[in-house]
Amino acid sequence: MSSSPVKVAVTGAAGQIGYSLLFRIASGAVYGPDTPVQLQLLEITPALKALEGVVMELDDCAFPTLAGVEIGDDAEKIFDGVNLALLVGARPRGPGMERGDLLEANGAIFTAQGKALNKVAADDVRIGVTGNPANTNALIAQRNAPDIPADRFSALTRLDHNRAISQLAARTGSSVTEIAHMTIWGNHSATQYPDLFHATVGGRNAAEVVDDQAWIENDFVPTVAKRGAAIIEARGSSSAASAASATIDAARDWLHGSAADDWVSMAVQSDGSYGIPEGLIYSFPVTTSGGDWSIVQGLDIDEFSRGRMDATAAELIEERDAVQALGLI
Ligand code: NAD
Ligand code: LMR
Repeated sequence: MSSSPVKVAVTGAAGQIGYSLLFRIASGAVYGPDTPVQLQLLEITPALKALEGVVMELDDCAFPTLAGVEIGDDAEKIFDGVNLALLVGARPRGPGMERGDLLEANGAIFTAQGKALNKVAADDVRIGVTGNPANTNALIAQRNAPDIPADRFSALTRLDHNRAISQLAARTGSSVTEIAHMTIWGNHSATQYPDLFHATVGGRNAAEVVDDQAWIENDFVPTVAKRGAAIIEARGSSSAASAASATIDAARDWLHGSAADDWVSMAVQSDGSYGIPEGLIYSFPVTTSGGDWSIVQGLDIDEFSRGRMDATAAELIEERDAVQALGLI
């Protein structure tokens, strides 16, 4: 085992996603069995006691890869020297809260955390945002961390990507391992566009295999886009283990590289590719290698896809303008 641990920060660590995520990071799911990990866990003050209980459980697992755990409610202390920051903690929508209220409440969290990361994170830090509204929270953190390269920030659409793979596998009677080149475009919200026109099933074009535009439009796209709401309806609370698993998949592939013959979906800063306005944190098909990502170029976009891609971009523009008006970016 290498001697100096990587430092991984997780915010909202006492929450539902944290309860699944921490144990997987601690057991080597991101960095593998040979790299010790130091967990740096941020919570709000009232949740620290519950977090102490989670730390007792982490201790009780005796994970060989867990080098240590630090907890606290001060972002500058917790983010000090971190190599990976997973920003999961966010303010959920409460009764009577409008979308603008939610953006404002989360804006306060992500401006402060962006500033703290800017000040104290390690030079090689990568920041993944899971807390909703994830794309716009990532934008706020990024804009408040001017010394961190902008491409170090991403928001999670890997859960949507995994959901899309699973739905397509079920429809085509194939295994998830036969599916490649899935793409989620846009926002992690109901406007996202899961794209079957470039996906493949056993090497064949997925839309051709399915051969049913009505199913794609009226079943596949809404099922994937509204899966989060369906889980809330069924479980009484939002997806947690699957969200943690996707957070792990995204971090692992970002740091260690996507499969050579495939790509993944990540919400990253747009460089204008596919006509998406520059600067938006928009989910694209990307390949990753050694902590860098690059947007897959040259995909043909038909009229149906164009409309969906523009609609989800329009929602992100609205969110960006709202947080701009609030002075958060
Ligand atoms: P949760 O309410 O169980 O936990 C959130 C935790 O964040 C709480 O313990 C809370 O105390 C903490 N927190 C709040 N403000 C904080 C701050 N300023 N600093 C540190 N911690 C803070 O929620 P959860 O189920 O774990 O979900 C977390 C977030 O992830 C939510 O915003 C949820 O909507 C989002 N989510 C995103 C995806 C995705 O695919 N992107 C999927 C599922 C859930
Ligand atoms: C999810 O996709 O499961 C979450 O983002 C839950 C939600 O609030 O929609």
